[in-house]
Amino acid sequence: MTDKMEIKRKQLLSKRCHFTLGLMCLFLSADAYECPDTCYCENRTVTCVGTEQIKLPLELPRRTQTLTLSGKNISVLTDRAFSANGTGVDLLALSLEDNNIEEIKSCAFCGLPELLSLELSYNRLMVVTPDAFNELGQLRYLYLRNTLMASGARQLRSALSTDSLSNLQTLDLSGNRLKAIPLSGFGNLNLTTLILTNNSIATLDKHDLQKLNEFKEISVHLSQNPFECKCDKLKDFYDWLKNSNQCVDLETLKCAQPEEKKDKPLVNVCKPQDLGSYVLLGIVLALIGVVFLMVLYLNRRGIKRWLNNIREACRDQMEVYHYRYEQDSDPRLANVAV
Ligand SMILES: *[C@@H]1O[C@H](CO)[C@@H](O)[C@H](O)[C@H]1NC(C)=O
Ligand SMILES: *[C@@H]1O[C@H](CO)[C@@H](O)[C@H](O)[C@H]1NC(C)=O
Ligand SMILES: *[C@@H]1O[C@H](CO)[C@@H](O)[C@H](O)[C@H]1NC(C)=O
Repeated sequence: MTDKMEIKRKQLLSKRCHFTLGLMCLFLSADAYECPDTCYCENRTVTCVGTEQIKLPLELPRRTQTLTLSGKNISVLTDRAFSANGTGVDLLALSLEDNNIEEIKSCAFCGLPELLSLELSYNRLMVVTPDAFNELGQLRYLYLRNTLMASGARQLRSALSTDSLSNLQTLDLSGNRLKAIPLSGFGNLNLTTLILTNNSIATLDKHDLQKLNEFKEISVHLSQNPFECKCDKLKDFYDWLKNSNQCVDLETLKCAQPEEKKDKPLVNVCKPQDLGSYVLLGIVLALIGVVFLMVLYLNRRGIKRWLNNIREACRDQMEVYHYRYEQDSDPRLANVAV
């Protein structure tokens, strides 16, 4: 939502400028490009939807702020694919959903210095060169939903480690079969929202958790992942989930394995003693033992007296038995019985 507002605000600002500069704008618009064939242009927005082929870079009307292409067969985004003769300088939002894009070459988005939002979801990215996201210093929102093929996912790590993305706040990587976070670190970005829903993440390893712990301002979305709920292995991940407050959809996380825990909520699945708290239990038991021994020691006189009493009681009892035995075995009594 916020990206839309930000774009609206900028559009409004430049509209006002446009208005006050009235005549000048008229002059300038004389050398502007026409609306491209098969596209629809209105209010600084160019929309090209449908399977008609287009040739990149498009010659956009000057001061276009929003460009949407969808349903095209683009395949490769080459160097400066959206900045023909400087027409991309005012572009704030670029949406390229569902265009069968397979490869992003170096500097594909160069020449778009104001771009805030880049939407690349529902493509088939196999090649993402390390310099794919160069010169995107203003970019706040990068959407890569259901778009990465296995090789593209592997290459993304280095593409995202560029210093060009120093203002990136929201990164959406849902639906990409990712097994781990494809980021070497967060230091080069300015992330506040990391969306990893609907991937193949079984757990977050120590390395990833350590990175996240360093950047507490990042909130992470993790629902619809096949978590492995083996409590002995889960401890670090569990501690992070419960203590860091960084996972915003914690309550919806579910186990995928082992079989007996399938679809159980992850937060309830392990009791504290399952999570390696045996040490604590041991310490408590040892303390109880020590207290017991202390009581025994301090009470040793009483105990001695008590033991003596018992011994005495036993001796008395034994004497009674002894006496009875002697009586029972009296031969005269035996004769009487016969
Ligand atoms: C899309 O483009 C690629 C290469 O440009 C081509 O090989 C492929 O046949 C095209 N697909 C369709 C559906 O037009
Ligand atoms: C840039 O403008 C020149 C002349 O105005 C034109 O010949 C050229 O094709 C344009 N380049 C692109 C990529 O549109
Ligand atoms: C989840 O991701 C898979 C691809 O990994 C995709 O086919 C599916 O539509 C996604 N599901 C949702 C609900 O987005």
